[in-house]
Amino acid sequence: MAVYALWNNKGGVGKSYLTFQIACEYARTHPTTKVLVIDLCPQANASSMLLGGIIAGEGHLDDLSGASPKRTISGYVEERIASPYGSPNSGANYVLKVHNFNSFAPTNLYLVAGDEELEVQSSRVSRAAQPGPTDAWRIVHSWISDLISDIRTSWDVTDSAVFIDCNPSFTIYTELALSASDRLIIPFSADGSSKRAVRAVLSLVYGIARHAGAIQSEYVINSSRFRMSVPKIYSYVGNRLTQMNAGSASAFKTVVNTIGTEIWDVWRASPNSFAIHPTGAGAPSNRVDFRKMFQAEISDANSASVVSGALGIPISQLQAGQKDLMGRMITVNQSQLDKQQPNIREFVRAIE
Ligand SMILES: Nc1ncnc2c1ncn2[C@@H]1O[C@H](COP(=O)(O)OP(=O)(O)O)[C@@H](O)[C@H]1O
Ligand SMILES: [Mg+2]
Repeated sequence: MAVYALWNNKGGVGKSYLTFQIACEYARTHPTTKVLVIDLCPQANASSMLLGGIIAGEGHLDDLSGASPKRTISGYVEERIASPYGSPNSGANYVLKVHNFNSFAPTNLYLVAGDEELEVQSSRVSRAAQPGPTDAWRIVHSWISDLISDIRTSWDVTDSAVFIDCNPSFTIYTELALSASDRLIIPFSADGSSKRAVRAVLSLVYGIARHAGAIQSEYVINSSRFRMSVPKIYSYVGNRLTQMNAGSASAFKTVVNTIGTEIWDVWRASPNSFAIHPTGAGAPSNRVDFRKMFQAEISDANSASVVSGALGIPISQLQAGQKDLMGRMITVNQSQLDKQQPNIREFVRAIE
């Protein structure tokens, strides 16, 4: 079972929302597998949703982050900063059973919660990756892999599904997330800057130059120098592409097609950056097969999505009707659920 990172160097494309939905759905449909979410984004949006949403989830996050020692990713990172080059094997101290906080969550779902303090820790993590032993960079970039293996060891399993939610910008903790991941899920939305973000991901992670003389990222240079693996592209997820009214439909289509062409060009230029799946499948030879393997779409479920995230109820468990959202009654229509539930189910069914 692979480690999946959800990342795009653009914000607001659905990384956190999809981490929440995908992890919950994967856990629901694989009740005997332990599923772990690691939240490496200081906004901690995925953690907030998992832990019960905007009121309950945020309250739990405050408690976890305020505890001494912290019971969030920042607690673990703090331990590693204190002693960067030897693993304390303490990762299991930071994992939470999500169901204990949110009764809507499957009982086999676990979380290492996000923490805004990651932002403050970031420069100290970077410093740890520089001097010290010659392979300081490699050791620091193994911190999250260490965390995952500590947790797997404590569970007495070698395998479990892992989903990592990332920060948009390519900070050191995003690098750590990528170094721990096997596969990359790249959500994007239907706007012009999504095309640029698709390219940015390629240059930052794979060193695919966008123009002659472009500077390579330290991440590309050091990953190759220390022979560390980088995740392979698993899927581009067009999220909320259908959020349009009749008048703007053709404009949206044009943008989506342009991004589709960009992704197809990437494949042709750099097929080795992609994770052919499922295991045993052959490489796609035409654009239709390529789309089937590497592209997915998730619809906008409008207020159903808002309610799902705000109350921490996975979309698959959300039912139509009136929902109390902080004292206001919001209507969730079956038609909204019908838009997104099948997308999430289908996407997760394909995850190995
Ligand atoms: N498929 C969707 N349908 C409806 N709302 C969505 C969908 N995906 C994301 N959203 C909403 O869009 C906003 C941005 O998503 P988010 O996951 O926070 O983006 P990111 O993590 O990439 O910055 C959030 O309010 C989220 O609830
Ligand atoms: Mg996010």
